[in-house]
Amino acid sequence: MNAMTTESNMMSDAQAKQKEARPFLSVKDVHAYYGESYIVQGVSLELPKGEILALLGRNGAGKTSTLRTLARVDDPQLTQGEIWLDGEPLHQMRAHQAAQSGLQLVPEDRRIIQGLTVEENLTLAQVAPGHGWTVEQVYERFPRLAERRNQEGVTLSGGEQQMLAIGRALMRDVKLLLLDEPYEGLAPVIVQEIEKILLEIKKLGITTIIVEQNAVAALKLADKAVIFDTGMVVFSGSAKEVLDNEQLRHEYLAI
Ligand SMILES: Nc1ncnc2c1ncn2[C@@H]1O[C@H](COP(=O)(O)OP(=O)(O)OP(=O)(O)O)[C@@H](O)[C@H]1O
Ligand SMILES: [Mg+2]
Repeated sequence: MNAMTTESNMMSDAQAKQKEARPFLSVKDVHAYYGESYIVQGVSLELPKGEILALLGRNGAGKTSTLRTLARVDDPQLTQGEIWLDGEPLHQMRAHQAAQSGLQLVPEDRRIIQGLTVEENLTLAQVAPGHGWTVEQVYERFPRLAERRNQEGVTLSGGEQQMLAIGRALMRDVKLLLLDEPYEGLAPVIVQEIEKILLEIKKLGITTIIVEQNAVAALKLADKAVIFDTGMVVFSGSAKEVLDNEQLRHEYLAI
């Protein structure tokens, strides 16, 4: 082995170590604006691979804006800070590049495409075949979708549409799943069904951030929690700490 090779091996070892040292998701002092409106005001958070983070806070606290900032959509505009996912600098990327790096945002309105069946909604999502899940794998996890594969997506019930939105994200080789109010408007029994699926996905090593008004449900599912107020993190710790802390729950979550 010559000196050059040894040196380049050492470099890659050092780089590999640095990648290991940085948490799987690392958000550092992120600031974002809608035009002149300063909304995301210096958010930092970290999450190890395969864990679930509950991102909580009152209406207007900046939860959706933070998910949108992480997903690198144009609005709000990121003006400062770093977002690292599995060693990749998302803060230097556009939305489509962040998606290619494994970040998938499931927005509150679920974005099921009108005029397409369940199956078409799924297959259209697959940008690079052979990477994310196959349609059959999605159907295995979501038997309700399999039964309705030829039904128009927008005619599904709310819970089924949420399953379709999550299934569609899984067809895109997801590393980090961002869920904005996935339980909104759903009956408790459907919430339980989705919780079960999210835990199965977790076992497969997928990392998730869940934003929820149903804070108790999100905290029971999550490993970690952050609480937002006026675009800032006011608490960061384990989900259990929040469940056990009455004052915190009362002050910021009204539960
Ligand atoms: N497109 C926009 N332009 C200007 N301001 C916006 C825009 N979208 C959101 N905001 C403002 O940013 C703040 C945070 O909103 P955001 O939707 O992130 O809150 P949230 O925590 O998700 O609230 P909720 O629980 O009601 O969904 C609010 O004051 C909101 O009015
Ligand atoms: Mg919101």
